Amino acid sequence: MPTSATVSAPGKLFLLGEHAVVYNGSCLVTAVDSRLWLTLTADESSTSPTLTINAPDVGLANWTCPLKESFFRPAYQGPSSFIESSIAVFHRRYPFHANLKIETRSDFGANLGLGSSSATVAATLYALSVVFNADLSPEQLFAMGVEAIQNVQKLGSGADLAAAIYGGTIYYLNHYPRQITPLKIDSLPLMVVYSGEKAGTVSYVRKVAELEENWPNVISSVIETMFTVVDSGRERLLAHDWVGLGQLMNIQHGLLHALGVDTLSLAEIVFAARRSGALGAKLSGAGGGDCAIILVDDAHRAEVRTALQHKKILDVQANAPGVRTEKRD
Ligand code: MEV
Repeated sequence: MPTSATVSAPGKLFLLGEHAVVYNGSCLVTAVDSRLWLTLTADESSTSPTLTINAPDVGLANWTCPLKESFFRPAYQGPSSFIESSIAVFHRRYPFHANLKIETRSDFGANLGLGSSSATVAATLYALSVVFNADLSPEQLFAMGVEAIQNVQKLGSGADLAAAIYGGTIYYLNHYPRQITPLKIDSLPLMVVYSGEKAGTVSYVRKVAELEENWPNVISSVIETMFTVVDSGRERLLAHDWVGLGQLMNIQHGLLHALGVDTLSLAEIVFAARRSGALGAKLSGAGGGDCAIILVDDAHRAEVRTALQHKKILDVQANAPGVRTEKRD
């Protein structure tokens, strides 16, 4: 009898500290209630197991291969890469022999920069652990997820993955050993706006690395300042001091601009929001496109919305739960 599980994992938004976190730094990241849904079905009766993936958001329709191939790819590439790499990492620790069928659908699509890759890795590993009774702790899931992501993109801080697994809002320290500290907050008045441009995280992380090679003293000061912004932001967030947090978001946006990852479209959103009374606004994530986040109180929300009505305002809430089992629909 095939066994199956349906799970979901949240997307994420960086509040502060993107890019700096890659340089052994810290960041504040929040999970959002736009989720990646994944159903895994395992059939242990098969003699020569295959993997089949249906993931319309990344263009996979009945994509299939012998499961063994997924375990030993010299390089994990293309739309199946994060699922295959997660399966390989899981199988190394918890060997199994079964046909796997995976179906995904996302509330947010792969193009908005809300962390669909990390959500896919978190959901795949969690579904495998449910179906094969591995009973993985969040720490174990996280360690395996970091390995799966490294096998695909060879870089990354792991902060997106922490948000997808733990949920909520997190202070994340990318030192060894990594620290993931959930922050207790009950609200976060954010507005999220898509810039209309799709950015590639890997290329923007490399772009900053190149700038750092050319200007090590200058860029290390920018990154150091971001560390201080994150630590101050953590205090302001816990104190629900939205005015202070907004100012720090504006500072972080300026520092990201200095790193060369801002775009005209993102800057237009940020300036229009500030002009309409937002407490703070910044790009969120790697830059080069994706989304901007705006901290705005109730008194100015309508005005900011009007100023940005020609843009795509996303209906997402911060501080969402991490990866979890869902009832089948
Ligand atoms: C990308 O979402 C955020 C970066 O800090 C990269 C990372 O943390 O891996 C730019």
